[in-house]
Amino acid sequence: MPMNKQLLGGIGRDEFLRDYWQKRPLLVRNAILGFNGLIEPAALFELAENEDVQARLVRQKGKSWDLLNGPLEASDYQSKRGSNVWTLLVQELNHHLPSGEALLQQFDFIPHARLDDLMVSYAVPGGGVGPHFDSYDVFLLQGRGHRRWQISAQDDLTLIPGAPLRILQHFTPEQEWVLGPGDMLYLPPCYAHNGIAVDDGCMTYSIGFRAPTTQEIATQFLVYMQDKLELEGRYQDPDLVLQVHPAEIGDAMIEQMQSMIAQVQWGREDVVDFLGRYLTEPKPHVYFQPPRRAVSFEKFVLAAQSKGVRLAPQSHMLFHAESYYLNGELVALQGCRDLLQVLADTRRIDARVFETAMSGWLYEAYIDGYLLVGV
Ligand code: SIN
Ligand code: CO
Repeated sequence: MPMNKQLLGGIGRDEFLRDYWQKRPLLVRNAILGFNGLIEPAALFELAENEDVQARLVRQKGKSWDLLNGPLEASDYQSKRGSNVWTLLVQELNHHLPSGEALLQQFDFIPHARLDDLMVSYAVPGGGVGPHFDSYDVFLLQGRGHRRWQISAQDDLTLIPGAPLRILQHFTPEQEWVLGPGDMLYLPPCYAHNGIAVDDGCMTYSIGFRAPTTQEIATQFLVYMQDKLELEGRYQDPDLVLQVHPAEIGDAMIEQMQSMIAQVQWGREDVVDFLGRYLTEPKPHVYFQPPRRAVSFEKFVLAAQSKGVRLAPQSHMLFHAESYYLNGELVALQGCRDLLQVLADTRRIDARVFETAMSGWLYEAYIDGYLLVGV
């Protein structure tokens, strides 16, 4: 896909990173010219009925809100509380629609390791999820209809206690705009915002990012290290001397244990290996669909040579130096680094550059449902 210079309102991608990313909001009119969304409402409601789809329905009555997790049925949209203002949110549209995956590729100027997913919201007039802030950066791209966005750089981020959604107790809008099809608003993390649907069937696409907390990354790293540890030795005390208090944990014991624990060490390569696995690990609810009728290895190679291959929409592939990771695993393939890089960066390998040397590994990925034939 050719680069869309208007996506960031004519600002260069490096300029955007320098001046806006994680710093300040950016409103872009006509970010994607002619954009009117990726999915029709009826198809979205159908998707939300599916067990494998992460859908939420936010219903609103005055200042009170409730939240219903999917799968959703038609009757869920009819409020029993005398109000019919609601918003449907569906996550991971990029897993369910090829056009969703293609849209995310326009945001390739942010590393794939930071990307989370594409969410879509559908709201009736007046619908929204309330004034709130997110911990992550987001690009809010308007599909069909119009949405009024109010934003505020306020420091007071106190939430209404006990609410089923994260709603700000006080919200003082500082700027507001009505966004129409193809308009886009970038918001850095922790920027207060409120989006209210103006017309019927307003659909907004959120390109969301992720940034783990220190606590999360450290905890996960320790889990990784636990699986990797292979330490020698056992506690010993041939010099044991009589203790006054048999119940006391003695100093000598503490020192020896401390040096045993100090054997837990790691280096940069452990961090790289951990990150490759952790950042590509599929979320718990994501599963892969192995081919219903897998073709033989020979047929696979012929098909790949003529049609190319691409990552399954749910697949996540990253690399550092010579190490490639796909869906939580290290890629066990020597050579073909250039093509693995193409696959990781663009999610596909064109037929004309396909190399048979990598077909053994590709076939395994195909059998696991990580890879599809045809670009
Ligand atoms: C929405 O699309 O209604 C909510 C998106 C957001 O505020 O993060
Ligand atoms: Co938000």
